[in-house]
Parts: sequence; structure tokens; C-alpha cells
Amino acid sequence: MEFDFHKKKTFTQYWNNFSTKPRKNNSFSVFLKKFKNSIYNFFGFKLSVRLIKNQSQKDEAYSSFVVDLKVKKYRNDLILKQIISFLKSSGLKLNKFDIESYINEFEDVFMKSPIKEQGSGFGFNEGVFFYTILKIINPTVVIESGIMKGFTTYLIDVATNENCKIYCYDINLENNLYNSKKATYINTDITKNVPSIQNEKVVALWDDHTSQIDRLKFSLIHGIKYNFFDDDLSSLNIHADGWPPIPTISMLKDLENGKINNQDFRWISRNREGIVYLKNITDTRIVRNIFFHKIFPELFPITGYKNHSQCSLVINSHSD
Ligand SMILES: C[S@@+](CC[C@H](N)C(=O)[O-])C[C@H]1O[C@@H](n2cnc3c(N)ncnc32)[C@H](O)[C@@H]1O
Repeated sequence: MEFDFHKKKTFTQYWNNFSTKPRKNNSFSVFLKKFKNSIYNFFGFKLSVRLIKNQSQKDEAYSSFVVDLKVKKYRNDLILKQIISFLKSSGLKLNKFDIESYINEFEDVFMKSPIKEQGSGFGFNEGVFFYTILKIINPTVVIESGIMKGFTTYLIDVATNENCKIYCYDINLENNLYNSKKATYINTDITKNVPSIQNEKVVALWDDHTSQIDRLKFSLIHGIKYNFFDDDLSSLNIHADGWPPIPTISMLKDLENGKINNQDFRWISRNREGIVYLKNITDTRIVRNIFFHKIFPELFPITGYKNHSQCSLVINSHSD
């Protein structure tokens, strides 16, 4: 694994990374980083130079939404059905009335979000599933790898109880706009600074565009039972993502079940060619440790918003 702090990307050996290479820190960027750190150490504030998009560029869900209460109830009843059917064989205890109240409160949570431009992360649809399932699990620790502006950190913050600890990892924290009091922010890859999570009820959100096989291995080694894998795309739709987390859980399952063979395959995304190196993906049997794997459904017919990404819930066996 190699990290490019400037491009905010992790490079892995499983694919050709669109033939790009991580940029090495040049002497100017090293100097700038040291300068920023000394300002921080001396004056206690962070110096950050960034181009901020026009604040009016909010997600469409903040300017187009349901108002009528009867329609809202109709919509929330349909979301409830979707969530109950999604979690049917998950082993989680489902209380219809609790779930209904989580869905009802989500609208307010979403509207009050301090991050209203969610272009490269979760939107309303992923948010309502994520928030509700977090409330059902009620974890004592949440790990978030890939935080960007902090929209998902905000959802974790409001969905968990006050004693829950949150570990937020990102190789570049400069885009973060939300600070959770429950969170510890760690400016590196999780493998370089592993949190202490023994005897905790842990949920992890993997949204760092790093190989999902490595994240699944990490979660199995560290006994993380509940995992959300964002951008869990398959060979059919991998081209939809500008930096896919190859191999994804869906690709691993397709390989293991013989739906795709072990030949390298190519695709084009934004006019760049990607190649998966299947010879570097040898241990597909790891997916046999998964007890539950399901992709969030497309909610456009119910909410009027397209899903922003393809997120899955993965529950591992034997990791209580
Ligand atoms: C899609 S964004 C996360 C969006 C966020 N979860 C949301 O929905 O609001 C991906 C983030 O992953 C970060 N990233 C890239 N490589 C990483 C790594 N190895 N560990 C942690 N974060 C990483 C990038 O810097 C970027 O901020």
C-alpha cells in the first residue's frame, strides 16, 4: 500500500491504479507541512489553504424535498419495509416501532447536517440506512476510515450514545469540516495506528477507497463484527467509481462463487483504463468468514434521490 496525501488516494497492488503513481513529497510540500505544524504548535491554530466551493452548491436533497406530512408518512413506511426486509437474515433484533422512530427522526438529522455538500460521500439514501442500522446495533466503538468533509462522522455522532468512542482515520484531514467530541482523529492509515477495541461492540465504516480485501482481513483479525463497505461495486459497475476499492467484497464473492473467472479484466472510467490483477488476489476464501452480505437497495422510487454510491453491510461470523 502507498499513500498520496495530495491526491487523497491509496495505491494497492491489486490493480493498475489507472497507470498513475503516488506523488512523492517534494521539498516544498515537506517545508509547507513543517511550517503549518510549527504555526499549530506555536499559536495553537491550524493554517489551511483551500479552495472552498460556493456554499450554494448543496446536495439537491436540501432544495428538493417532500413537505406534505401524509406523503412523508407514506415514504417512511416504505423505507421501514425496505430496512426490515434488508435486515431479515442479519441476526439483528428488529423492533418495528423503534426502527420507525429512527427513520422519522432521520429527516431532521439530515436537514440539520453541518455538511450539506455530499458529492463524494453518502447522501440521503445511504444516510437513512446507515443511521438506522447504527441505532439498531448501538455500538460502543465506531471506526470510520475515510472521513473527507465529515458528513458520515456527523451521522455516527448523532446515531450513537454519548459514551460511544469514534476513531476517525484519514490520510488527509484538511477537508474535514466537522469535529465530533466523541472522536479521535488519526491522520494515517488504520494499519499504522490500530485502535484498542478488545471487548467492545464495534462497527466499522470503510469508505477510504482502499482494497476491501485488506479491510476485511483487518476486521476479521480484530474481531470487528459489523462492517459497512461503501463503493462495494462488482465487475459489472466498477467503471462507475473514479478510484474503486479493488477487490471489493462483491468481486471477491463473485470470484469465490465462480461468477467471474480469475483472468485479469479491463474497464474504462472517465477515459482512463483500469486493469484488475487477479493473480494478486489469491485468498478469496476469506469471504467464507462472512455471515451476512447485502447491498443497500436503490431508493430513488421512494425518496426521489438517486443513491450516491453502492454500500453494503457485512456481518462477520465468529467475532463477538
Ligand atoms: C469518499 S471520501 C469519504 C466520504 C465520507 N465517508 C462521507 O461519506 O462523508 C474518501 C476519503 O478517504 C480518504 N482516504 C484515502 N486513503 C485512505 C486511507 N488509506 N485511510 C483512510 N482514509 C483514506 C481520502 O482522503 C478521502 O477523504
